[in-house]
Amino acid sequence: MKNSPARVLAAIDQYGREKAFLMNVGHEKGRIVTDIIAQRKPSIMIELGGYVGYSTILFADAVRKAGGKKYLSLELSPTFATVSKALVQLAGLDDIVEYMIGPCRDSLRALRSTRSGALDLIFLDHAKFAYTNDLKLCEELALVGQGTTLVADNVICPGNPKYLEYLRSPPAKKIEEAKTVEAEKSVDVSIGNPRLIYDTSLVYGLAPTGEQIGWSGNLALFRGVDGQSIGQEESIHSF
Ligand SMILES: C[S@@+](CC[C@H](N)C(=O)[O-])C[C@H]1O[C@@H](n2cnc3c(N)ncnc32)[C@H](O)[C@@H]1O
Repeated sequence: MKNSPARVLAAIDQYGREKAFLMNVGHEKGRIVTDIIAQRKPSIMIELGGYVGYSTILFADAVRKAGGKKYLSLELSPTFATVSKALVQLAGLDDIVEYMIGPCRDSLRALRSTRSGALDLIFLDHAKFAYTNDLKLCEELALVGQGTTLVADNVICPGNPKYLEYLRSPPAKKIEEAKTVEAEKSVDVSIGNPRLIYDTSLVYGLAPTGEQIGWSGNLALFRGVDGQSIGQEESIHSF
Protein backbone atom coordinates (compact mmCIF):
# COMPACT_ATOMS: atom_id res chain seq x y z
CA MET A 1 0.00 0.00 0.00
CA LYS A 2 2.99 2.28 0.59
CA ASN A 3 3.33 5.00 -2.03
CA SER A 4 0.17 3.84 -3.79
CA PRO A 5 -2.62 6.44 -3.61
CA ALA A 6 -5.00 4.02 -5.40
CA ARG A 7 -4.46 1.26 -2.82
CA VAL A 8 -4.83 3.62 0.13
CA LEU A 9 -8.07 4.94 -1.37
CA ALA A 10 -9.31 1.38 -1.91
CA ALA A 11 -8.59 0.59 1.76
CA ILE A 12 -10.52 3.71 2.88
CA ASP A 13 -13.43 2.69 0.61
CA GLN A 14 -13.39 -0.80 2.08
CA TYR A 15 -13.38 0.58 5.63
CA GLY A 16 -16.32 2.82 4.72
CA ARG A 17 -18.27 -0.10 3.28
CA GLU A 18 -17.52 -2.68 5.96
CA LYS A 19 -16.89 -0.81 9.22
CA ALA A 20 -18.40 2.63 9.43
CA PHE A 21 -19.83 5.18 7.02
CA LEU A 22 -17.32 7.81 6.02
CA MET A 23 -18.43 11.13 4.58
CA ASN A 24 -15.88 10.99 1.75
CA VAL A 25 -16.54 12.41 -1.70
CA GLY A 26 -16.15 8.86 -3.07
CA HIS A 27 -14.73 7.64 -6.35
CA GLU A 28 -17.78 8.44 -8.54
CA LYS A 29 -17.95 12.13 -7.75
CA GLY A 30 -14.20 12.15 -7.22
CA ARG A 31 -13.68 11.21 -10.85
CA ILE A 32 -15.57 14.31 -11.95
CA VAL A 33 -13.15 16.42 -9.95
CA THR A 34 -10.03 14.54 -11.11
CA ASP A 35 -11.15 15.13 -14.72
CA ILE A 36 -11.40 18.85 -13.96
CA ILE A 37 -7.92 18.76 -12.39
CA ALA A 38 -6.51 17.06 -15.50
CA GLN A 39 -8.11 19.73 -17.65
CA ARG A 40 -7.31 22.79 -15.51
CA LYS A 41 -3.83 21.66 -14.40
CA PRO A 42 -3.85 23.74 -11.21
CA SER A 43 -0.54 24.77 -9.79
CA ILE A 44 -2.12 25.04 -6.34
CA MET A 45 -5.44 23.54 -5.31
CA ILE A 46 -7.12 23.90 -1.94
CA GLU A 47 -9.92 22.01 -0.26
CA LEU A 48 -12.18 23.32 2.48
CA GLY A 49 -12.90 20.25 4.62
CA GLY A 50 -10.37 17.43 4.33
CA TYR A 51 -11.87 15.00 6.88
CA VAL A 52 -9.69 11.84 7.05
CA GLY A 53 -7.95 12.41 3.75
CA TYR A 54 -9.90 10.67 0.97
CA SER A 55 -10.35 13.76 -1.20
CA THR A 56 -6.88 14.92 -0.18
CA ILE A 57 -5.24 11.74 -1.52
CA LEU A 58 -7.41 11.46 -4.64
CA PHE A 59 -7.05 15.10 -5.67
CA ALA A 60 -3.44 15.66 -4.58
CA ASP A 61 -2.43 12.66 -6.67
CA ALA A 62 -4.30 14.15 -9.65
CA VAL A 63 -2.73 17.58 -9.08
CA ARG A 64 0.75 16.03 -8.99
CA LYS A 65 0.06 14.01 -12.15
CA ALA A 66 -1.09 17.22 -13.84
CA GLY A 67 2.21 18.90 -12.96
CA GLY A 68 0.90 20.91 -9.98
CA LYS A 69 3.01 21.98 -7.02
CA LYS A 70 0.80 22.02 -3.95
CA TYR A 71 -2.43 20.68 -2.48
CA LEU A 72 -3.61 22.50 0.62
CA SER A 73 -6.07 20.79 2.93
CA LEU A 74 -7.97 23.13 5.26
CA GLU A 75 -9.50 21.05 8.04
CA LEU A 76 -11.18 22.18 11.25
CA SER A 77 -10.51 19.09 13.36
CA PRO A 78 -6.96 18.27 14.54
CA THR A 79 -8.08 14.66 15.05
CA PHE A 80 -9.25 14.22 11.47
CA ALA A 81 -6.14 16.01 10.20
CA THR A 82 -3.90 13.61 12.15
CA VAL A 83 -5.56 10.61 10.46
CA SER A 84 -5.34 12.35 7.09
CA LYS A 85 -1.63 13.11 7.52
CA ALA A 86 -0.86 9.45 8.30
CA LEU A 87 -2.78 8.25 5.23
CA VAL A 88 -1.28 10.91 2.98
CA GLN A 89 2.20 9.89 4.11
CA LEU A 90 1.38 6.23 3.47
CA ALA A 91 0.19 7.17 -0.03
CA GLY A 92 3.50 8.96 -0.66
CA LEU A 93 1.93 12.35 -1.17
CA ASP A 94 3.43 14.24 1.75
CA ASP A 95 5.75 16.15 -0.62
CA ILE A 96 2.80 17.93 -2.20
CA VAL A 97 0.15 18.08 0.57
CA GLU A 98 0.14 20.78 3.24
CA TYR A 99 -2.36 21.28 6.03
CA MET A 100 -3.91 24.30 7.64
CA ILE A 101 -5.77 23.17 10.73
CA GLY A 102 -8.56 25.15 12.38
CA PRO A 103 -11.56 27.13 11.10
CA CYS A 104 -11.00 27.66 7.39
CA ARG A 105 -11.76 31.39 7.66
CA ASP A 106 -8.62 31.78 9.78
CA SER A 107 -6.64 29.59 7.37
CA LEU A 108 -7.84 31.53 4.32
CA ARG A 109 -6.73 34.81 5.88
CA ALA A 110 -3.37 33.29 6.80
CA LEU A 111 -3.02 31.96 3.26
CA ARG A 112 -3.64 35.41 1.82
CA SER A 113 -0.89 36.86 3.96
CA THR A 114 1.66 34.39 2.57
CA ARG A 115 0.85 34.30 -1.16
CA SER A 116 -0.50 36.57 -3.85
CA GLY A 117 -2.87 35.99 -6.74
CA ALA A 118 -6.05 34.00 -7.23
CA LEU A 119 -6.17 30.24 -6.70
CA ASP A 120 -6.71 27.95 -9.68
CA LEU A 121 -9.01 25.42 -8.10
CA ILE A 122 -10.99 25.32 -4.84
CA PHE A 123 -12.98 22.34 -3.61
CA LEU A 124 -15.68 23.20 -1.07
CA ASP A 125 -16.75 20.25 1.06
CA HIS A 126 -16.94 21.52 4.63
CA ALA A 127 -19.97 22.86 6.55
CA LYS A 128 -22.67 23.37 3.91
CA PHE A 129 -24.19 26.41 5.64
CA ALA A 130 -20.80 28.13 5.53
CA TYR A 131 -20.21 27.80 1.75
CA THR A 132 -21.57 31.23 0.81
CA ASN A 133 -19.96 33.22 3.60
CA ASP A 134 -16.62 31.46 3.11
CA LEU A 135 -16.74 31.90 -0.66
CA LYS A 136 -17.43 35.61 -0.10
CA LEU A 137 -14.36 35.76 2.13
CA CYS A 138 -12.32 34.16 -0.68
CA GLU A 139 -13.68 36.84 -3.01
CA GLU A 140 -12.77 39.63 -0.59
CA LEU A 141 -9.27 38.22 -0.18
CA ALA A 142 -9.01 37.88 -3.99
CA LEU A 143 -8.26 34.18 -3.58
CA VAL A 144 -11.09 33.81 -6.10
CA GLY A 145 -10.68 35.80 -9.28
CA GLN A 146 -10.48 35.54 -13.01
CA GLY A 147 -9.87 31.93 -14.03
CA THR A 148 -10.59 30.35 -10.65
CA THR A 149 -12.64 27.17 -10.79
CA LEU A 150 -14.76 26.33 -7.76
CA VAL A 151 -16.11 22.86 -7.21
CA ALA A 152 -18.68 22.47 -4.43
CA ASP A 153 -20.09 19.17 -3.24
CA ASN A 154 -23.67 18.71 -2.00
CA VAL A 155 -25.16 21.93 -3.23
CA ILE A 156 -28.81 20.87 -3.42
CA CYS A 157 -29.66 18.23 -0.85
CA PRO A 158 -28.04 17.98 1.60
CA GLY A 159 -26.89 21.34 0.57
CA ASN A 160 -27.17 24.92 0.12
CA PRO A 161 -29.58 26.55 -2.33
CA LYS A 162 -28.43 29.97 -1.16
CA TYR A 163 -24.94 29.21 -2.40
CA LEU A 164 -26.21 28.46 -5.90
CA GLU A 165 -28.49 31.50 -5.79
CA TYR A 166 -25.59 33.76 -4.80
CA LEU A 167 -23.34 32.50 -7.59
CA ARG A 168 -26.06 32.83 -10.21
CA SER A 169 -27.12 36.33 -9.15
CA PRO A 170 -26.18 39.19 -11.47
CA PRO A 171 -23.74 41.78 -10.06
CA ALA A 172 -26.50 44.41 -9.68
CA LYS A 173 -28.45 42.10 -7.35
CA LYS A 174 -25.33 41.18 -5.40
CA ILE A 175 -24.46 44.86 -4.97
CA GLU A 176 -27.93 45.54 -3.52
CA GLU A 177 -27.65 42.56 -1.17
CA ALA A 178 -24.16 43.62 -0.12
CA LYS A 179 -25.60 46.94 1.11
CA THR A 180 -27.96 45.05 3.42
CA VAL A 181 -25.13 42.89 4.74
CA GLU A 182 -23.07 46.04 5.30
CA ALA A 183 -25.93 47.66 7.20
CA GLU A 184 -26.50 44.59 9.36
CA LYS A 185 -22.82 43.81 9.77
CA SER A 186 -22.53 41.13 12.42
CA VAL A 187 -19.81 38.76 13.50
CA ASP A 188 -17.54 37.77 10.64
CA VAL A 189 -20.06 38.09 7.81
CA SER A 190 -18.37 38.68 4.47
CA ILE A 191 -19.70 40.90 1.71
CA GLY A 192 -17.72 39.29 -1.10
CA ASN A 193 -16.95 40.87 -4.43
CA PRO A 194 -20.31 41.50 -6.16
CA ARG A 195 -18.58 42.25 -9.47
CA LEU A 196 -17.57 38.65 -9.97
CA ILE A 197 -19.73 36.59 -12.27
CA TYR A 198 -19.57 32.86 -12.75
CA ASP A 199 -20.18 30.32 -15.47
CA THR A 200 -21.91 27.44 -13.77
CA SER A 201 -22.54 23.76 -14.33
CA LEU A 202 -24.49 21.43 -12.10
CA VAL A 203 -23.52 17.77 -12.10
CA TYR A 204 -25.51 14.98 -10.53
CA GLY A 205 -23.23 12.27 -9.21
CA LEU A 206 -23.34 9.21 -7.04
CA ALA A 207 -22.84 8.75 -3.31
CA PRO A 208 -19.61 7.04 -2.09
CA THR A 209 -21.52 3.74 -2.01
CA GLY A 210 -22.25 4.09 -5.73
CA GLU A 211 -25.96 4.67 -5.07
CA GLN A 212 -27.92 7.65 -6.28
CA ILE A 213 -29.50 8.82 -3.04
CA GLY A 214 -32.05 11.43 -3.91
CA TRP A 215 -30.16 14.51 -4.90
CA SER A 216 -27.30 13.87 -2.57
CA GLY A 217 -24.48 13.51 -5.06
CA ASN A 218 -24.28 16.84 -6.76
CA LEU A 219 -21.35 19.03 -7.55
CA ALA A 220 -21.52 22.56 -8.82
CA LEU A 221 -18.72 23.84 -10.97
CA PHE A 222 -18.08 27.53 -11.27
CA ARG A 223 -15.55 29.29 -13.39
CA GLY A 224 -14.97 32.77 -12.03
CA VAL A 225 -14.96 35.55 -14.60
CA ASP A 226 -14.28 39.05 -13.44
CA GLY A 227 -16.33 40.92 -16.02
CA GLN A 228 -18.97 43.51 -16.51
CA SER A 229 -21.59 41.61 -18.45
CA ILE A 230 -24.24 39.38 -16.98
CA GLY A 231 -26.38 36.52 -18.22
CA GLN A 232 -23.81 33.80 -18.78
CA GLU A 233 -25.05 30.55 -20.28
CA GLU A 234 -25.67 27.90 -17.70
CA SER A 235 -25.51 24.27 -18.61
CA ILE A 236 -26.92 21.42 -16.59
CA HIS A 237 -25.51 17.94 -16.93
CA SER A 238 -26.98 14.86 -15.38
CA PHE A 239 -26.07 11.21 -15.34
C1 LIG B 1 -17.79 16.08 4.31
S1 LIG B 1 -16.34 16.16 5.27
C2 LIG B 1 -15.09 16.36 4.05
C3 LIG B 1 -14.87 15.12 3.25
C4 LIG B 1 -13.61 15.15 2.42
N1 LIG B 1 -13.58 16.32 1.54
C5 LIG B 1 -13.50 13.92 1.57
O1 LIG B 1 -14.13 13.85 0.52
O2 LIG B 1 -12.76 13.01 1.97
C6 LIG B 1 -16.42 17.77 5.99
C7 LIG B 1 -15.20 18.17 6.77
O3 LIG B 1 -15.23 19.59 6.91
C8 LIG B 1 -14.66 19.91 8.15
N2 LIG B 1 -15.11 21.28 8.50
C9 LIG B 1 -16.33 21.69 8.92
N3 LIG B 1 -16.34 23.01 9.13
C10 LIG B 1 -15.11 23.47 8.81
C11 LIG B 1 -14.49 24.74 8.83
N4 LIG B 1 -15.16 25.84 9.21
N5 LIG B 1 -13.20 24.83 8.46
C12 LIG B 1 -12.51 23.74 8.07
N6 LIG B 1 -13.05 22.50 8.03
C13 LIG B 1 -14.32 22.36 8.39
C14 LIG B 1 -15.19 18.83 9.09
O4 LIG B 1 -14.37 18.72 10.24
C15 LIG B 1 -15.10 17.60 8.18
O5 LIG B 1 -13.90 16.92 8.35
